[in-house]
Amino acid sequence: MASVLGLFLGGVITAIPVVTGVAEGVSYQQKQNEEAANETRMVKFNILVSCDSKDELAEEVDNGILVVRHERVWIVPRETKDGKPVPIDPVDDIQPPLHAFAGFYIQYPDDDRSPPERGLVSTISEDPPVLNWIYIDKNTYQARHGNRTASIEHMVGEWDWTEDESAVMLDGWEGFVAVDESEVPGWEDTPWGKEGLAWALYFDKDDNGLKGRKKGRKTFEIILGRRLQSEEDQLKQMEEANKKMQVKTQGDLKSQFTAPAADRANAWKKK
Ligand SMILES: *[C@@H]1O[C@H](CO)[C@@H](O)[C@H](O)[C@H]1NC(C)=O
Ligand SMILES: *[C@@H]1O[C@H](CO)[C@@H](O)[C@H](O)[C@H]1NC(C)=O
Repeated sequence: MASVLGLFLGGVITAIPVVTGVAEGVSYQQKQNEEAANETRMVKFNILVSCDSKDELAEEVDNGILVVRHERVWIVPRETKDGKPVPIDPVDDIQPPLHAFAGFYIQYPDDDRSPPERGLVSTISEDPPVLNWIYIDKNTYQARHGNRTASIEHMVGEWDWTEDESAVMLDGWEGFVAVDESEVPGWEDTPWGKEGLAWALYFDKDDNGLKGRKKGRKTFEIILGRRLQSEEDQLKQMEEANKKMQVKTQGDLKSQFTAPAADRANAWKKK
C-alpha cells in the first residue's frame, strides 16, 4: 500500500512517496515503509554541541547549539530560557533572530538514489514554517541547508542516530567538525562575519581531518547531541502552524468576499 506524506519543503508542499520501487525486494521495501512511517524518526529535536578538546578556543564550541543561517549551519553558544536551549547572539541583536536547528529524519525523495537515503530536515524560520534539507557540500564538505534543487547533487544522507539515539551520525559515524571561518580573509565583510558567526559545521567525509580542505583554519571534532523537543512543545508548534494556516485561509476568503462588496460600494459612489 502506498502512502504519501505531505511536507512543507522550501516553500512548497511536497508529496514524498513512501513506496519507492519494486526492484529493491519486498523485505527491504517493508523496512523502508516502516522506517518512513516511524514517528520516532519524526520527533523534532534541537542539536546541542559538545567538544572534548582541552584547547582554550574549544570553549567557543563546547556547550554550543546549531543554528541555520545564510545557507550554512553554525555553532553558537547557548543559554536556557523557560527550560529550553536557545542560541546566544555572538553580536548584539541579530535580525531576523538566529534560528536554532529544529528538525527530524525523513527519507530523501530521489528516485536516482537506490537504496533511498534517510535525510535530515530543519525548519529555517517560524513563520512561515519552512523546512530545508541539511546536506554536505560534495566539494567543500561544509554543512548547508537548502531546498531539494539545491541539495540533490550533494551528500544528503544517510543521516542516523547513535545506538542510544543520543547523538547524530552521518554515513555511519560521527565525523562532525567545527571549522573557524573567521580565519578566512574578508570574513568580517561577509553576511555571516558581520553577525559574528565564526564556527561552521563540516563533515570529515574522508576521515582524514579535512585534508586539503582545511586551508589553515582551526578545527575541532564535535559531538552533535540530540535534544528532543517536549511533547508539549511539539503540540504547541503544530497548533500554532495550524492557526497560521487558518488565518491565511480566512484572509484569502475575506478578500475574495469583500471584493464584490467593494465593487458595489464604488458603483454606489459613482451614482
Ligand atoms: C521506530 O524506531 C524506534 C527507534 O529506533 C524503534 O525502537 C521502533 O521499533 C521503530 N518502529 C518501527 C515500526 O519500525
Ligand atoms: C531552491 O533554492 C534555489 C537556491 O538554492 C533557488 O534558486 C530556488 O528558487 C529554490 N526553489 C524553490 C522552489 O524555492
